[in-house]
Amino acid sequence: MQSKQFLHVVGARPNFMKAAPVLRALSRYGVRQSLVHTGQHYDARMSDAFFRELELPEPDINLGVGSGSHTEQTAQVMVGLERVLHEHRPDIVVVYGDVNSTVAAALVSAQVGVPVAHVEAGLRSRDRSMPEEINRMITDRIADWLLTPSADADENLRAEGVDPARIHCVGNVMIDTLTRLLPRADGAARLTSLGLGDGEPFVLVTLHRPSNVDDSTHLRQLVSVLEEVSSGLPVIFPVHPRTRQRLGTQAVTAPRLHLTPPLGYLEFLGLQRHATLVVTDSGGIQEETTFLGVPCLTVRDNTERPITVTHGTNRLIGRSPQRLQLAIQQVLDSDRSGGTAPPLWDGHASDRIAAVLST
Ligand code: UD1
Repeated sequence: MQSKQFLHVVGARPNFMKAAPVLRALSRYGVRQSLVHTGQHYDARMSDAFFRELELPEPDINLGVGSGSHTEQTAQVMVGLERVLHEHRPDIVVVYGDVNSTVAAALVSAQVGVPVAHVEAGLRSRDRSMPEEINRMITDRIADWLLTPSADADENLRAEGVDPARIHCVGNVMIDTLTRLLPRADGAARLTSLGLGDGEPFVLVTLHRPSNVDDSTHLRQLVSVLEEVSSGLPVIFPVHPRTRQRLGTQAVTAPRLHLTPPLGYLEFLGLQRHATLVVTDSGGIQEETTFLGVPCLTVRDNTERPITVTHGTNRLIGRSPQRLQLAIQQVLDSDRSGGTAPPLWDGHASDRIAAVLST
């Protein structure tokens, strides 16, 4: 009898660090695996660099969908992947997280009749204005294996009436990648190139959510706060392409607010671990700072990762620039508090996933 055939679908930056450990763990079971990149993220800095650093195999297929409206992206992934599924006939399709590529792959797999496993199932912000929330809800409706990072995700699924037999609490697979690569994470060269001394405190910032960056006036107000903060201590802000477009040619003149291109995984992790404070609207960074014990301020009204607030170092501060300024000052004036890593964020989530999926 032939071994099971897995087809993994990734598309955007936050998928890559989740898929890498699962491919590695499954390879120990002697199953057949192929990797499809939808092409949702295509810049070298948003995609290729991650494949290299995470030691992901070259994708077997790249659908090349690129940018577009949510509908266009989702539809193009579905059309492209349908052909691939008919050709490859996998036994299981594995999808990751909550990006447009995730829901598109889950939907077309269900239509073609291939079972779906969802890694990072069950997270809910209860904010339907975010495309990711819709993507999560639909993917979880469809998936046959719901592989959750934490107990709150299990509870969300049970509350939605999901059959408990489909729910497997496996832990946080992003932490598998983090623990494996932490020894190689290094931000020193970047700090030196920005003129920061060894051990000098700094604030690390990422902002890319439409709710923070799509309105240029609001984005400008957030950047003004960062400019002011940078008169006290340096701020490093790797700028996502979406944010870069919205910033346009607006000059940022504060000499210690350092805007950089998007950074690779190892360099960003190297900065994160030594940051005095991280300001973000990313989901994954809320989790990474919790694991690293670094204070995190999340510029959002809600989070699908409440465990980072209850167990970790994360604080939700909403989107107001004034609140951001106040909250940054509060963190800088206080002692750094550690928080604890939630249960099963132990570097072995992918082993548990492989055990569930390969039986
Ligand atoms: C997507 C995900 C989001 C995730 C984020 C991480 C959805 C709905 N959103 O948002 O959940 O947190 O990725 O980065 O799937 N662009 C480039 N080069 C690229 C990719 C994008 O220049 O390689 C530009 C394009 O102009 C594009 C814009 O960035 O229109 C946004 O890209 P898109 O994939 O639509 O969404 P993200 O904001 O990256």
